[in-house]
Amino acid sequence: MPKRLLVTAALPYANGHIHIGHLVEYLMTDVWVRYQRLQGRQAAYICADDTHGTAIMMAARKAGVPESALLAEMSAAHQQDFADFGIRFDHYGSTDSATNKAFVYEIWAKLRAAGHIDQKTVTQLYDPTAGAFLADRFVKGICPKCGAPDQYGDSCDKCGATYEATDLKQPKSTLSGAVPELREAVHAFVKLEDFRTIIADWVGRDGALHPDMQKWVRNTFLIEGEPLRSWDVSRPAAYFGFEIPDLPGNYFYVWLDAPFGYIASTADWCAKTGDTWQHWWQGDGVEVHHFIGKDIAKFHTLFWPAMLRLAGHNLPEKIHIHGFLTVNGEKMSKSKGTFIRARTYLDHLDPRWLRYYYAAKFTDGAEDLDLSLDEFTAKVNADLIGKVVNLASRTAKFVPRLATTYPEDGGLFTRAATEGTAIAAAYDAGNTGEAMRRIMALADRANEFVEKAAPWALKKDPAKAADLEAACSVALNLFRQLCVYLAPVLPDFAEECGRLLGTPITRWSDAQSPLTGTAIAEFKPLMNRIDPLKVQAMVDASKAEAPGTPDPGPRTPDAVTDGPEALAAEPLAPIITFDDFAKVDLRVARVVNAEEVPKAKKILKLTLSLGGDQTRTVFAGIKTAYPDPKPLVGRLVVFVANLAPRQMSFGLSEGMVIAAGPGDQDIYLLAPDSGAKPGQRIR
Ligand code: MSP
Ligand code: ZN
Repeated sequence: MPKRLLVTAALPYANGHIHIGHLVEYLMTDVWVRYQRLQGRQAAYICADDTHGTAIMMAARKAGVPESALLAEMSAAHQQDFADFGIRFDHYGSTDSATNKAFVYEIWAKLRAAGHIDQKTVTQLYDPTAGAFLADRFVKGICPKCGAPDQYGDSCDKCGATYEATDLKQPKSTLSGAVPELREAVHAFVKLEDFRTIIADWVGRDGALHPDMQKWVRNTFLIEGEPLRSWDVSRPAAYFGFEIPDLPGNYFYVWLDAPFGYIASTADWCAKTGDTWQHWWQGDGVEVHHFIGKDIAKFHTLFWPAMLRLAGHNLPEKIHIHGFLTVNGEKMSKSKGTFIRARTYLDHLDPRWLRYYYAAKFTDGAEDLDLSLDEFTAKVNADLIGKVVNLASRTAKFVPRLATTYPEDGGLFTRAATEGTAIAAAYDAGNTGEAMRRIMALADRANEFVEKAAPWALKKDPAKAADLEAACSVALNLFRQLCVYLAPVLPDFAEECGRLLGTPITRWSDAQSPLTGTAIAEFKPLMNRIDPLKVQAMVDASKAEAPGTPDPGPRTPDAVTDGPEALAAEPLAPIITFDDFAKVDLRVARVVNAEEVPKAKKILKLTLSLGGDQTRTVFAGIKTAYPDPKPLVGRLVVFVANLAPRQMSFGLSEGMVIAAGPGDQDIYLLAPDSGAKPGQRIR
């Protein structure tokens, strides 16, 4: 094993919040790094925000603030989310840094000097209103094959056809809604074919890629007789990124500068610690490990090795490529409430539950993994509470200290110690799913032992004090072994076990020999069971964040683009006293049912819960804006609770829900921030 490991997870885009799909990767990497450290290896975990591109530029324009303001806000949010999931980076940087710019300029000079750059005129769709060229995913229109409306510029969701953005019928820019026009511009291309041998050699290296991914790269790109296509690395203004020094008015494509963020972030970290980045990216005795999703494999397996070689850095020892997260067997969906932000999860559930559940699902392959919310609840409760926590909670209270000699246990401890080798190999390979299965099998055997020994029965008989001490000493040592093996996934279990048994867990080898004679501290509950109602509450809150409800983007005031029309259409009302206002009893309510009313074109029937068994029926004139009542179910609304009931032809309306907007399609239901409880008064 090498002395040092430089480990990265992909740099998340700064234009959105971290969600449970991202967490697959950042948790998987965190577990791997923690495992390596437990084995005594030196490992650095480096990440950064990926900041450049058109999306951030447009978001900043819309908010009327410089990009840097959005970036600072998002970086802080990302880092807080990661920290609260126990994901510990050694450094979290940004690709929009002077350090990164220097790395990019350096590679550019080398590319130029060695003649690896071509310049060609490219015809591309251009948004005249936004003043920007449009990447495929910023153009929507009618599919040229099947006629499906609202399809992206590269492929059709309905029929699966792929095409050029210029083939779309009735194309529209998603940036401004303008009809795009064709414009020419000069682009710079890296002649990737120049690097073919470097790439092929690296792809062929033993262990650099999972065999399936290796095959994929070879069969997709490294086809004999077909030169590698040159890589378009420039974008004309307007673009948010680093300007190309010898092509003024043009910027480096985000995917050229983003991976250099790995090195730049390392360099910024080293500047703080007195180390040098070369120490981690050049020379012997270091391994670079990248963890990424399969969607960005092309950038990392083709372009990146080529750039690294030209720059004179080490090529990655291994790129660990994982699949995508599905929830309840489907793509994450905003309307189903399964597009769950990291923060929304944390508002409702314990992060350790997800750490364990994901760990139980990780494999070394790139197949997708499913978060089934029912299985999540059942598995965490059965494994962590039922098997691991239980072992300690049923034995730690009965004896003051561990036996001075480790008792006869029928070979249980030794077998579990031996099993450590297989568990370690599984962690090392990124097969934490297998590691968890093996650990839980050990937990089963430990629990069988406790069942048989029945310390709770021994406790009642003073003559059995020695047997009681022996049974508890075995159970607690088996518990400690499990805590060592689970430490990469659940570091605070290991910490708590260290406190309980008076000896901290610091190394993998702590599972190899039993503890004897140490005092047992007071047992504290390690973890609660998952309450399925809380899982449902998280899904409901995620639904409430779906479109039509509060904007999930950075909450920066839209000061520049907000026009005066709305206020002008309805001038402010005369001043009232606070007492006047206090007469209106506004409450948080949850929509528990929403349905159409026969023959009523504008009305939906809503059943609102005020918590407990308190419900109210409201006929709301919102159907023109919310034609489909289903997505409303579960979300929170603001309810006028003391409005005199009104008899309508379809039934009695017991109050109203509050909404903004003039009417028709322009109706916007108000919602409290997540965390508010039905029944709470609003004032
Ligand atoms: N900014 C690029 C990466 C640049 S690396 C030099 C990017 N960002 S991302 O925010 O879209 O994704 C970050 C990582 O999260 C990627 O590796 C991506 O594959 C992963 N995931 C994003 N959504 C995911 C799921 N739904 N499931 C699993 N992983 C997911 O790509
Ligand atoms: Zn189609």
